Order: sequence, then structure tokens, then C-alpha cells
Amino acid sequence: MSIFSEKLFSASSFLLHKTVVRVGTRLNSSGSWWCNVPMGPPDPILGVTEAFKKDQSKKKINLGVGAYRDNCGKPYVLGSVRKAEDIIADNFLEKEYLPISGMPEFCDLSSKLALGEDNIAIQENRHAVVQTLSGTGALRIGGAFLARFFPGCKEINLPTPTWGNHIPVFKDSGLSVKRYSYYDQKTCGLDFKNLLLDVSKMTPSSIILLHACAHNPTGVDLTHDQWAELSALIKQKSLYPFFDMAYQGFASGDLDDDAFAVRYFIEEGHDVFLAQSFAKNMGLYGERIGALTVVCDNKEEKNKVMSQLKIIIRPMYSSPPLNGARIVTTILSNEELKCQWIAELKGMADRIIGIRQQLKDELAKAGSKRNWDHITNQIGMFCFTGLNEPQVEKLTKDFSIYLTKDGRISMAGVTTKNVKYLAESVHEVTAA
Ligand SMILES: Cc1ncc(COP(=O)(O)O)c(C=O)c1O
Repeated sequence: MSIFSEKLFSASSFLLHKTVVRVGTRLNSSGSWWCNVPMGPPDPILGVTEAFKKDQSKKKINLGVGAYRDNCGKPYVLGSVRKAEDIIADNFLEKEYLPISGMPEFCDLSSKLALGEDNIAIQENRHAVVQTLSGTGALRIGGAFLARFFPGCKEINLPTPTWGNHIPVFKDSGLSVKRYSYYDQKTCGLDFKNLLLDVSKMTPSSIILLHACAHNPTGVDLTHDQWAELSALIKQKSLYPFFDMAYQGFASGDLDDDAFAVRYFIEEGHDVFLAQSFAKNMGLYGERIGALTVVCDNKEEKNKVMSQLKIIIRPMYSSPPLNGARIVTTILSNEELKCQWIAELKGMADRIIGIRQQLKDELAKAGSKRNWDHITNQIGMFCFTGLNEPQVEKLTKDFSIYLTKDGRISMAGVTTKNVKYLAESVHEVTAA
């Protein structure tokens, strides 16, 4: 065999070998193992960012993503977080596994932050807390626990609209999902009348999900009096409240004000579920740090609930990650750092409150005759503008302004530099 034919032989046997491997990985002659997997749609929110990245326009604005940006449109790492990271690095800490339920100090500090130090459930030590993979993880673990142990009807009622991920999170947890009225398209505010009506028609002993503050996507919250009325009705119907608090401190700039509803419900004798996230209020998005608190009737119940939460977590991911828990714990346990964090949190909330006013003013200056009061009436990271789908499409196509199809804009993406352009563009698409 010549050198040439030898090479040809080894090349063809290589190809033959490859072919055999490929045939070996096929299910049968009709296709591969995964040929029947349907292509899923892109995520409605992350898809907006993908389209934004491809746009070459210098004026482009991304108002889709729910993450804080500074007034230069840049992601913001809080000074208190940087300092906490320095402290952690200086301590040369080990990297052992955390317990299944997470870092005990973190769990303790998180629940105190949410419920208040003097909370009756904390004082009576009847609250089970686990560290979770941010707010989403808390909702998912909570959903799985309810699907397994909720003694009533395994049905969760979500507001319309709600954070898009709530629906798959609870469906995947094994709960059936129902909806209740929340938002009034005409006033761009709360539809309290229909909300109460829908709650009064809910299956008794089912679950109701409540956004504790800064409702996403509408930015429309209940007043204290409305919370009180809703609490009484929920009690009357024996509904189980599951609070999602992804924005504590981010709505009003005050941690206690934003936790009003959760604390009020506990005072009123409700045993609640609470999903908590440090993504927004500490800017720890990618650290995936949050907590699930279950308020129980007594300590014995708490211990049983805790044991089952651990049984749910263990086969999912064994134990949660260290770093975010260390950062939060360092900040919340150090008075000076905590004060700095609270000031920085207020700074973020205040920038958003201020830019809402500027957007409204600029719309008036641009000549818009519409009522834009809801921009300043709504709170938190998002504004539900009231723009319809064709208007959103035009805003993106003609002005390179990116937002979700439902007309929601992330106020965090609006800055003193782009607010005029945004207002003029919104006026253009809404003037006709
Ligand atoms: C209402 C609501 N709940 C929960 C989350 C979960 O966020 P994360 O998992 O990043 O903490 C979000 C995030 O946007 C949200 O808006």
C-alpha cells in the first residue's frame, strides 16, 4: 500500500467510524432522538434585549429589561455591595457546602428585614425560612411545597396582568392557575371593584398570589385601606395568601412602607408564604439570592414544614450558593454598611420617581394632549404606559425604542439624556 493509499484508507476508516457513531446515536431510520422536539418561542422579555443588541442606531433605548441602570444607562453595583465583597475577600473564607436550607444567619436576617424585627411570628419562632435561588427559586420551591401539601384546592389565583414567569413557575410546580382582575385599562390604575368581585368568586380554600409592592408589570399597588379590605375578604373566603416581594424598598425607597401588606396580613392572623428577592434592592441579580418564608401556626408546624422544604430542595440542587448569602449577610449584620445600602436603595428609588416626573413633563412639552398621570401615579421599576401593540411596534421600528409588546417600560432604562427623545417618540406614535 502506497503512503497515499494508506492515508486514504485511514481517512475513510475514520469517516466510516464517524458514520457508525452517528448511526448508533439515531433512534431509528426515521430520525434522531430529538427530532420531535418542537422549537420553543423566545422569552418575551429577553427577546427584546436580543433585538436591541442587533440595532445599530445611536439613539436606541432598551426599556425591556427589569434591571436598574444609572443615569448614564449603565448597570450599577452598589458601593455597599463592593465593600461587603472586600470584607468577604479579606476574610479568606472556605468554600464548604451550605446546609440544604441555606445560610442560617442569612435566613434570619432576611425574614427580619421583610417581616420586621418585632413581628409576632418571628417572636414566637413559628416561621420556616429557606435560602432560595432568588425570587424565582422562592416561588418555585413554594409552588412545589403547595402542590405536595396544601390541604385545600391546589389552585393558585394570579392577577391579570402579572409577571410573565408566574404562570409557568406555578404550572411547572403542579398547581392549576386561575386569574383575577387587577388592572383597569381605561384609568391605567387599579380595578379594585372587579378585583374584589373576582376574589369573592374564588374557590374557597384555594391560593391567591399577591404582589407585595411595585406590582410588575403595572406599577399599580393597593392603598393601605384597600389592603385591609382585601385581607378581610381573603379571610372570609379562607384563601391562602402567597406574597411575592421582589421589590422591597425599591418602590417607595422605604423598606418598611413597601413591606406594609405582608406585615399587615400577618398581624391580621393570616399564615402567609413570602417569596423574597435581593436581585433588585441590592442589585444582586446574577447572584441568585432570595428567601422563602412560611409563617406557621406554631413551632412544631414550622419544624415539620422546614423538614419538607429540605426534602423538596435536596433532589433539585442539594444546597444553595454561598456568595450572595455572604454579601447580604455582611450588609445586613453591619450597621454602617446597612445604612449605606439603605441610602443607595433610596437613591435608586428616587431616581426612578424623579425620571417619571421628567417623562411626564417632556410629553407635555412635546405637545401630547393625552393624560399621562399614570406615569407618576404608578410606582416601582415599571410603567404600564397604555401603548397598544401597533404603537409599541412603531416605537421600535421607527425610533429604535425597545419594550415589551404589552406597553410596559422599565423606568430604570430612562435617563436625563434620553427622556426627551423618548417623550417625543411616544408622542409621535400616540398623537394620531
Ligand atoms: C414580580 C416578580 N417576582 C419575582 C421576580 C423574580 O426575580 P429574581 O428571580 O431575579 O429574584 C421578578 C423579577 O423580575 C418579578 O418582577
